[in-house]
Amino acid sequence: TVIQQLQQALLAWYRAHHRDLPWRREVSAYRTWVSEIMLQQTRVEAVIPYFERFLHVLPTLADLAVADDALLHKLWEGLGYYSRVRNMKKCAEVCVERYGGRLPSSYEELCRLPGIGPYTAGAIASIAGQERVAAVDGNVLRVFSRILANREDIVKEVTKKHYRQYVSAFLPEAADAGDFNQAIMELGAMVCSPNGAPSCAQCPVAAWCRAHAQGTEQEFPVRSAK
Ligand code: ADE
Repeated sequence: TVIQQLQQALLAWYRAHHRDLPWRREVSAYRTWVSEIMLQQTRVEAVIPYFERFLHVLPTLADLAVADDALLHKLWEGLGYYSRVRNMKKCAEVCVERYGGRLPSSYEELCRLPGIGPYTAGAIASIAGQERVAAVDGNVLRVFSRILANREDIVKEVTKKHYRQYVSAFLPEAADAGDFNQAIMELGAMVCSPNGAPSCAQCPVAAWCRAHAQGTEQEFPVRSAK
């Protein structure tokens, strides 16, 4: 089917071209979580040294649960939005109480933890938990709005919910879901770029992209002026 062709083209491209990033070398729910929270506010290149230092000083969730605020402040300084690491500590404390000091890896359980929304839960569950679940961030909205030539306003919260459904229909089997989600993020970062023209000549899924067929790539995604 067309969906299987797109899936396989995207997975093959990702496996051949993905960047060698520290959180991809060794995968755990904790490492995926730390990297995803850092990446929500900061570019990949800038996150790398923060990620390495954070994992060196606090190698496990249990270490984070008992870390003092001054240390966390120092580890986060320069990343911005300090409240995120405070929430992470709160989440770590809850995991120590409820889950024996480990992050759960199922989407449903992750969504109930403080500071973990649908995107982060989807990323952790698919990448570290091999669960067949979508992880929709800004990159994914842009890539899929172009593939589908979908003009829903990405500023609206309901649009993200719709995209979780659209992406779910494209997900491969559970074992490949994490690579698939990361492939879309990687495509959004490296090829299907937000600024200027995307590099469609390098795109593994251009053959199935409705915006590309129409020559309307730059009209997507649609976001309302606020
Ligand atoms: N941006 C958000 N999550 C990412 C990931 N896992 N890899 C690369 N870029 C990302």
